[in-house]
Parts: sequence; C-alpha cells; structure tokens
Amino acid sequence: MHKPKVFVTRKIPDAGISLLRECCDVRVYPKDQVISRKELMNGVKWCDALLCLLTEKIDKEVFDTNPHLKIIANYAVGFDNIDVKYATSKRIPVTNTPGVLEDAVAEHTFALLLTITKKIVEADTFTRAGKYRFWEPLLFISPQLKGKTLGIIGLGRIGSLVAEKAVAMGIKVIYTDIQRNSSFERQFHARFVSKEVLLENADFVSLHVPLLPSTHHLIGSKELNMMKKTAYLINTSRGPVVDEKALVQALKKKMIAGAALDVYEFEPKLTSGLTKLRNVVLTPHIASATREARQAMSIIAAKNILAVLNGKKALTPINPEVYTK
Ligand code: DGY
Repeated sequence: MHKPKVFVTRKIPDAGISLLRECCDVRVYPKDQVISRKELMNGVKWCDALLCLLTEKIDKEVFDTNPHLKIIANYAVGFDNIDVKYATSKRIPVTNTPGVLEDAVAEHTFALLLTITKKIVEADTFTRAGKYRFWEPLLFISPQLKGKTLGIIGLGRIGSLVAEKAVAMGIKVIYTDIQRNSSFERQFHARFVSKEVLLENADFVSLHVPLLPSTHHLIGSKELNMMKKTAYLINTSRGPVVDEKALVQALKKKMIAGAALDVYEFEPKLTSGLTKLRNVVLTPHIASATREARQAMSIIAAKNILAVLNGKKALTPINPEVYTK
C-alpha cells in the first residue's frame, strides 16, 4: 500500500522521526547544512507533509509548488519563517511546537543574564590567560541581582517562567504586554507598566515577544537611550526585534552596561562590530537546545503530521481557522 511521504529538511532528534517511520515513507535531508532552496523545492514536490526548520522560508512559492501538500510542521515555536496567511487561504494547517521548550528558553535566558552581569566570559578568559595572580578587592565587580528589577517585554509562557526564576532570586519584576495578566501580577508581585516606564526602570530587560510587523525593531536607539546606563538587555526571542546596528552603537558608547543575545537581526550574520565588544555575550540561537526540549519538539512535530495524514485535526495548529472556514 502507498505510504504517505514526509520530507524533513534537516536531521532532528530521533524520537519524532522513529514515530513517522512506523507508517510513512520518510526522507531526511542528509547533509549537515541548511537545505538549499532548490533541494527544499524538490523535497516539497515529493512529499505529502513537510517538517521544516526556522531556517527555511516557507512562502507562497513553496505552497504553490505542491497543491497536494497536507501540512507544514515547523520544528520551532516561532513561525515567522512561514507565510501562515497564505497557508490558511489554501487550508493547509501549519503547526509549531509549543509547551515543550519554554523551560529550556527560560533557563537559557537566565544563564545569559548571569553570564553577562557576572562577567563570566571575561573572567574565564582572564583566568585561562594566567592573569589571576592574587585575590583583588576590585577584580570583576558586578551588580548583585537580588533587589534589582527585571523588565519583561512579552509575558507569554517563557516570560512567565523567567519571572518565576527572577522572583526566586529576590529580583523584582515589572512587565509590559498587549494585555495585563492579573493572576501573574498577584503570584509574582509583578507590576504592569508601559514599555517606556519599563525601559526607564529595569536593571535587566528581557525580550519574549514573537516577531511581527509590530515588534520589528521594538528596541532601537530611542529605546536604548531610555534604558539605565547600568542596565543589561537580554534577547532570546527573535533577532529583528532589536535594531542591531543601534545596539552596537549603544554598547560602544556605553549607553547601557551590556547585552546578551541568542538571536540576531540577520542570523546567522552578526552586525559589524558586535564581536569586538567586551560588554556582550553571544550564543548561536541555542536557547531551546536542551536534550529534553529538542526530543519533545520532534515528537510534537511528528504527532501533528501523523494526525493530519490520518485525517484528523493537527494538535497544535497556528492557523486553527483552517478547520472552521
Ligand atoms: C523557536 O522554537 O522558535 C526557537 O527559536 C528555536 O527552538
């Protein structure tokens, strides 16, 4: 009997792939690199279901290349790489991987916060270079986090988990979002403020918004100027939320104390000057890279595909309208 065909654009953790192989003909792009556009199109033409990554642009051309495509399962919670509106117009469900990577991202956010404020990278480099000759009262002085204020921009699940960790460390939380969350405010003694008030008052600003036209360059030179000179910016959301050129200038001029980034405006390219700065910590978009999260992401993507191929609704559709329209 003809088995449904699933094309996977890059090797991902086994759990999901094994599930798919039980009843589908699965092809995984074999090279250890981002798939080329041509190879992506060939895969799309061949398959019934596409399991793709955030590195692939899934635009109109991709949908139009295969009128029989049944589902796009994105191996990420973010989906700014996909033309979801067009998918909906074609009644193709697009799915993401919510609910399994939030702890990983919140942990990484905290790791970045601690690393940048405690100057861990600089201190490590110093120590390895044999420069530690005696204990010094003024060596690598850093701010105490307890008693300081964390400003969370975007209070989804990740933002809430970051707040929980902050409060456990005695850090005060203020937040801004398109809507207030009074139970969150009660639970964490958190204060809802405008973006402007947040920027002026936070010692650490952490970004947790999706990339949308309204969040593009949410942090630019005006916003960086509003931040305290002693404040730090942490970004584990999407690169283009920050105007990276403006950030480099702000860091050069010491308008803020530092930044820790996991995502970049022109990923994987870094804005010129960024790597020369000492007051930044940079990681290569690995916030969700725990073993647990990445396996769970592969299982969710696979289960979404299996549901749709079996004529059922996707489990985590981004565009549930495809089932009601
Ligand atoms: C996501 O899921 O959107 C992350 O950026 C990668 O896991």
